[in-house]
Amino acid sequence: MALVLSVSGSPSPTSRTARLLRHLDARLTAHGHEVAPLDVRNLPPQALTGADVDHPAILEVAQQFLRADGIVIGTPVYKAAYSGLLKSLLDLLPQFALAGKTVLPLATGGTTAHVLAIDYALRPVLSSMGAGHVTQGWFVLDRHITVEQDGAVTVDPAAAGPLDQVLDQFSAALNRAAVLAPAGASAG
Ligand SMILES: Cc1cc2nc3c(=O)[nH]c(=O)nc-3n(C[C@H](O)[C@H](O)[C@H](O)COP(=O)(O)O)c2cc1C
Repeated sequence: MALVLSVSGSPSPTSRTARLLRHLDARLTAHGHEVAPLDVRNLPPQALTGADVDHPAILEVAQQFLRADGIVIGTPVYKAAYSGLLKSLLDLLPQFALAGKTVLPLATGGTTAHVLAIDYALRPVLSSMGAGHVTQGWFVLDRHITVEQDGAVTVDPAAAGPLDQVLDQFSAALNRAAVLAPAGASAG
């Protein structure tokens, strides 16, 4: 079992990205992993905009990244890239906050014109932060995510199948990493 931090970088209070991630959290739990959700929009704005790396909330998030085996990074596509809110958090984390982590990048967007935003925009940032293994990501069109009145999330079959596949790959990568570096093993 791996510990997964599932991070939504959308500033929207009705975020489809966040809803999608919470929907996928349940799938990861069913795979046997423990999932901790994190919505960047709930962090103190003054810490994010003031580059306050010593703010207790930022220090706690840095610890959450450190403890996690796997990280799901979800972002809406804004202006052909990831959200500024996500970047404002990543900028406050240690340079190698993703060292040794297995990372699943996910994006939601309004047009397939920006389907590659994960690869040309987000993936280089994740690599620069030392991500051990960035697994296959996926881009989901916003209109393929429906939030029902009771809050339940339905994903269009066009996106649900590929999402299942990338989740399976992420889960398998987490399991392989656990075999290679059992809990409690030290790299140093
Ligand atoms: C300010 C802004 C900029 C956007 N820019 C893009 C874009 O460049 N490409 C795209 O595909 N979608 C774009 N969108 C659409 C969002 O990416 C899409 O609706 C996404 O699912 C919103 O996610 P959220 O509900 O989690 O915030 C933009 C939306 C907003 C509000």
